[in-house]
Amino acid sequence: MDMTTTLVDHTFHKDVRRCFEKRTYAIPARWLYDRRGSELFEEITELPEYYPTRTETKLLKANGPAFAEAVGSNRAVIEFGSGSSTKTPHLLKAIDPAAYVPIDISGEFLEHSASLLQEEFPDLPIHPVEADFMKRVELPAAVANMPKLGFFPGSTIGNMIARTSVDLLRFMRETLGEGAQLLIGFDRIKDPEILVDAYDDSAGVTAQFSLNLLHRINRELDGDMPVEQFRHRAVWNDLYARIEIYLEAQADMRFSIDGHVHEMVKGQKLHVENSHKYGLRDARLMLRAGGWTPLHEWSDERDYFTLMLVEAHPYKHAP
Ligand code: AVJ
Repeated sequence: MDMTTTLVDHTFHKDVRRCFEKRTYAIPARWLYDRRGSELFEEITELPEYYPTRTETKLLKANGPAFAEAVGSNRAVIEFGSGSSTKTPHLLKAIDPAAYVPIDISGEFLEHSASLLQEEFPDLPIHPVEADFMKRVELPAAVANMPKLGFFPGSTIGNMIARTSVDLLRFMRETLGEGAQLLIGFDRIKDPEILVDAYDDSAGVTAQFSLNLLHRINRELDGDMPVEQFRHRAVWNDLYARIEIYLEAQADMRFSIDGHVHEMVKGQKLHVENSHKYGLRDARLMLRAGGWTPLHEWSDERDYFTLMLVEAHPYKHAP
């Protein structure tokens, strides 16, 4: 077993133990993405109700010349949490970059998607970095002196509460350096019914995606949680402007995880994910709080999703 696996297992165990022992009944959303979870998420992106991926991809395809003009050529593109990198080719085609650095915590995913991209862009230097992008990342020496463009698509920032988002934006600024740009996707506030449907689809794929977390606990932490007795719920919290995802116990229950017995009562909920939605001014203010100055914005005709280009400007925030 390599170091990363050991580390990941340990934190997963710790987070799940805290959920039941400190009775927070909340588990960080990052644990939804084991191999099965990542497969299910790919399925989610194709659902008719799940508009974000489709809308953002269309924006990336449609605005190539505008990106090229705003970004200029010869930047090193640094992608945070590159995963399967399916949106990246559209950006790379548009801006003629000098190098590409995908950063992901899963090395396995990283090598695979980097080699696929290399086939499509044979002359582009690609330097994958296996790292946790929630901290400052040491970039490869080969890109040290290149101007940089961070890329953070997918509204991944939506999973984080505001203070974590601001921490992340500040780390990204440290990683990329002054003068860097960042292209980042935000899912917009819209009719709650559309939002709830996007996170509680009629085919039940999103429910499987959430419930997989319980299967993962059973698989990896020697649990016997009764998965069939939980129900997936997606709720719009207007005060926090976010979709909250819960797994609700349908009966009183008792189960064990790693030899420890826990109880839940009927109706009790585990909080497994948040997906924050943004108004334009919310997003701009959060970006500025993280040290990024707005430059350009691209939205679809329904204002469902926005790509924002921002820069790490040294003095624009103050006189
Ligand atoms: C990967 C965080 C962007 O919040 O829309 C989709 C995750 N969860 N359906 C989102 C997700 C359930 C997704 N992000």
